[in-house]
Amino acid sequence: MHKIALIPGDGIGPEIINETVKILKAVEKKFKIQLQLIDGFAGGASIDTYGVPLTEETLALCKECDAILFGAVGGPKWDHLPKELRPEQAILLLRKSLGLYANLRPILLFDTLNDASPIKQEFIGDKLDFLIVRELTGGLYFGKPKGIEKTQDKIRAFDTMEYTYEEIERVTHLAFETARNRRGCLTSVDKANVLETSRLWRSVVCEIATDYPDVKLNHMYVDNCSMQLILNPGQFDVILTENTFGDILSDEASVLTGSIGMLPSASLGDEKPYLYEPIHGSAPDIVGTGKANPIGTILSAAMMLEYSFREKEASTVVKKAVEKALNEGYRTYDIQVGAKKVVSTSQMGDIIEKYIKNL
Ligand code: IPM
Ligand code: MG
Repeated sequence: MHKIALIPGDGIGPEIINETVKILKAVEKKFKIQLQLIDGFAGGASIDTYGVPLTEETLALCKECDAILFGAVGGPKWDHLPKELRPEQAILLLRKSLGLYANLRPILLFDTLNDASPIKQEFIGDKLDFLIVRELTGGLYFGKPKGIEKTQDKIRAFDTMEYTYEEIERVTHLAFETARNRRGCLTSVDKANVLETSRLWRSVVCEIATDYPDVKLNHMYVDNCSMQLILNPGQFDVILTENTFGDILSDEASVLTGSIGMLPSASLGDEKPYLYEPIHGSAPDIVGTGKANPIGTILSAAMMLEYSFREKEASTVVKKAVEKALNEGYRTYDIQVGAKKVVSTSQMGDIIEKYIKNL
């Protein structure tokens, strides 16, 4: 029996999680896997009920589960709150408290969505399939000190970019292992021409590279990488980078696949539970309209089946069902190019569920 904490969060979070629950139930039946789904509050939903973005109880619930499926948090309703009470704190606290230091973001363009990519075919090349490994619990997000100082004549705000040897080492090992199991190429992205943290980053990556002679390593500055992602994305297999660079580059990379709504992610650490979430946000502007794309979350569940439960076959079937829905011409509102039929969030869930049953 696998225990899953379900944290829908805010905005379209509940809608996309609902569809993913349909998928998990279908997988349970088909593969005779037992899943126990337990609901938890986080983000604005938690602020409204408990006054804080993440309660001790929700954190304890997550810790005793085998995996966490997370929707999205945030919205204009909570934008005025002080930083420690903002909905985003929920996901940041979960990542930090659970030691989820490696965030895997696969960037995959399904063949049938080629025309939906804003990049011309000649730049995409034969196939777009790479993985961003983003360090998730260090850097600017968590470095101390951080704050804002107001004196009579000056206002000064500051964040600290900081990395320890160990923080770089563990995520680098994970990236090399991952590259070894893919096409064997690793691009480490930094800003070593300017930043001290990046110089340490590069030297640790070079040191660890000697353990992986079968992986081809190259280094790239982050500004160049943001350009290469558009000019020649096909050159990448695995990109390894620090927290803030990874946040930015993964949003940029996501549009290559047609829509940010398509992309899943897995956040891993040294021990369970791991956390799975789509990379998009809570999209308050389309709440309740049926326009949300559930595929990023459904594919996150597929990653959960693979990484947390070692159910490779079930994971593959979910991915194939998604691909079949797209190949048949079904699209959500965010990807209308090449659509035979634009369907709602729940219709897309139903279609994928049906294909899982029949595959
Ligand atoms: C992401 C998001 C988060 C981040 C926000 C919601 C705190 O943008 O997962 O990429 O910055 O990490
Ligand atoms: Mg982001």
